[in-house]
Amino acid sequence: MEEITSRRQPVAAGNEGMENAGRYDSPRQKRIFLSPPHMCGDELSMVKKAFNGNYIAPLGPQVDRFEKKIAEKAGISYATALASGTAAMHLAMRVLGIERGDEVFCQSLTFIGGVSPVLYQGAVPVFIDSEKSSWNMDPDLLAEELHTRARAGKKMPAAVISTDIYGQCADMDRILDICGNYGIPVVSDSAEALGATYKGRPAGAGAKAVVFSFNGNKIITTSGGGMLLSDDERFVQAARFLSQQARDPAPHYEHSAIGYNYRMSNIAAAIGLGQLKVLDDRILQKRRIFNYYSGALKGLAGVEFMPEAPYGHSTRWLTVVLITPGESGLDRETVRKALEAENIESRPVWKPMHLQPAFKECRVCGGGVCEDFFQRGLCLPSGTAMTDADLDRVVSVIRKMSAAKAEKRRLKAGGAICH
Ligand SMILES: Cc1ncc(COP(=O)(O)O)c(C=O)c1O
Repeated sequence: MEEITSRRQPVAAGNEGMENAGRYDSPRQKRIFLSPPHMCGDELSMVKKAFNGNYIAPLGPQVDRFEKKIAEKAGISYATALASGTAAMHLAMRVLGIERGDEVFCQSLTFIGGVSPVLYQGAVPVFIDSEKSSWNMDPDLLAEELHTRARAGKKMPAAVISTDIYGQCADMDRILDICGNYGIPVVSDSAEALGATYKGRPAGAGAKAVVFSFNGNKIITTSGGGMLLSDDERFVQAARFLSQQARDPAPHYEHSAIGYNYRMSNIAAAIGLGQLKVLDDRILQKRRIFNYYSGALKGLAGVEFMPEAPYGHSTRWLTVVLITPGESGLDRETVRKALEAENIESRPVWKPMHLQPAFKECRVCGGGVCEDFFQRGLCLPSGTAMTDADLDRVVSVIRKMSAAKAEKRRLKAGGAICH
């Protein structure tokens, strides 16, 4: 098992667990959050630089540098920094010309921020189930649905949004191949996967556009923010134009289109520049956390871990387990509540979009796989500042519960023999 170096737990909680704010000052053991921000220490000096230049604005040299550096890291030519990942996805939809009457295929197992922009444009999402090997969009289901539609002469989707869930890349080559047959653009929602690779290429590479998020719970954060990237310069230029209220070139304010106030603050970008310095270290740490959990919980009946697809290198943004009640005698909700009782935050796997009341009218292709992940899946605390002692606290709750169940079963089985 790889050793986790001891780090101090940050005081701030990030957006994860805010609903449990009353627990912050618990007299019991300190709260362990799911994935809180983890500052490296250089962020403040970056922010000071922005202050010294008086670039306390939604634009500035820090934004320019942050865009350049993320583009380099992602291996994509052009980038525009934005207020959130959701804003980035909205601009991707808008620049692609998605509109009322269109359909956009989306992964059902995801966070709503990657899907709601489809609705902002008046279009309708169609949800595709996950494959078991990566938990991302099942390329076979995608191919089948597109093929059936094409054969029936039905309208094809205006775009496909593939998602890289929990730090793991979707099978991008297959998705690109399938969509390429019909000329359908692919947008990669890599909000959770900055730093992950697919066949040695950075997350999202090859897609028409790629979205990242720098929300407080992400592997690196700007406190809140996102980025839209593309190898198509005009695509990114159009997004940037719309993100700044679609201001036409003129000395006064002239608008021939309607845009948004979606730019990233220069102060946020300064934080991002500090964070970016430690991205590689954070990936190592996330993977060490995964290894720690999987080593310490090895052999527990009915507990398995999210697999790593053979084609890629996941960041393991969150360590996710599947708990099978029949085998373990436990279920994910009992485990979640037991952790919560110990002041430890964990979170069910994303509730599939096709089960959300907001999308009850939408079509879903398959659905059973991600429904099962939701029923059995639990995201364990994965903050990169966690110490060995923090990880042991989590592990011991699960091990104790599992041992108690096993003992109960043993006694029951023994009783059955006696009588
Ligand atoms: C898969 C996915 N898509 C989109 C988003 C939206 O990003 P943001 O919260 O920055 O708007 C997030 C996360 O927050 C996400 O996890």
